[in-house]
Amino acid sequence: MKIIDTVAGLRATVARWKAHGERVALVPTMGNLHTGHLQLVERARKSADRVVVSIFVNPMQFSDGSGDGGDFERYPRTFDADCKKLSVISDQPEVIFAPAVQVMYPAGFEQETRVKVPGISSILCGEFRPGHFVGVATIVAKLFNMVQPDVAVFGEKDYQQLLVIRRFVTDLCFPVEVLGMPTVREKNGLAMSSRNTYLSAHERMHAAMLYQSLQYAKQQIESGESDFAMIQTQAIAQLKEAGFRPEYFEIRRAQDLQMPTDTDEQRVILVAAWLGKARLIDNIMVGNME
Ligand code: PAF
Repeated sequence: MKIIDTVAGLRATVARWKAHGERVALVPTMGNLHTGHLQLVERARKSADRVVVSIFVNPMQFSDGSGDGGDFERYPRTFDADCKKLSVISDQPEVIFAPAVQVMYPAGFEQETRVKVPGISSILCGEFRPGHFVGVATIVAKLFNMVQPDVAVFGEKDYQQLLVIRRFVTDLCFPVEVLGMPTVREKNGLAMSSRNTYLSAHERMHAAMLYQSLQYAKQQIESGESDFAMIQTQAIAQLKEAGFRPEYFEIRRAQDLQMPTDTDEQRVILVAAWLGKARLIDNIMVGNME
């Protein structure tokens, strides 16, 4: 496992692989790796000969005026522990790409060309974190151009992010297959997330309620409840009562996160809520009952 921190070094390594006709997979991360990330690496290994894991805390996706001030500075950076975790798994990546901010944004990111996916970037999380998905799409596009992967693997916990990435990959004709992997959960159902480290031990137990609220809403829909507004309002009220500060709890069409219609193949229920110092997001799929 090689740690590379320059674009030239990365390109030279990938060029050698490609010269031998090898398939390359990328797993983009911001570090503070947990079991969910390691499963993405495992999946990447199954679909490519060579695997690159990028570790980069991307300032552009934090500069969102969300009232989330200082989130970039306080984001957990655990590089040595991350390398150790990756070095002991059987699906160990060939390369960890860990560039400095100056490598990714040599001219400073304020003046940087950006990738903006309209519509889907400004709803749900995008409404509460303006600019966030522009930051995500821009950095992922840059990583795609640097690594030139055949396949890239992302977690479905960040479902909206996955759709944003799929959209720009299609629209800008990136020759990259984008794979989404199911959310990995703690025993109590809490979705694994790097931000869970902001939770106290007590909050971590309590946070499981977020997934329970999704499961309950799913059950309601599957047993025929069609008043989605009522389900959403009820869930928000219950989360507030339980000490969460919900941003949204929404039932949407899974393919594009638009409002659900009677003919949807699949729906998704998405939630974002603060608990203590942690902003938590989660989602659950609901099949069409027709
Ligand atoms: O999901 C993440 O960790 C980040 O948003 C990503 C995709 C690595 C881009 O910085």
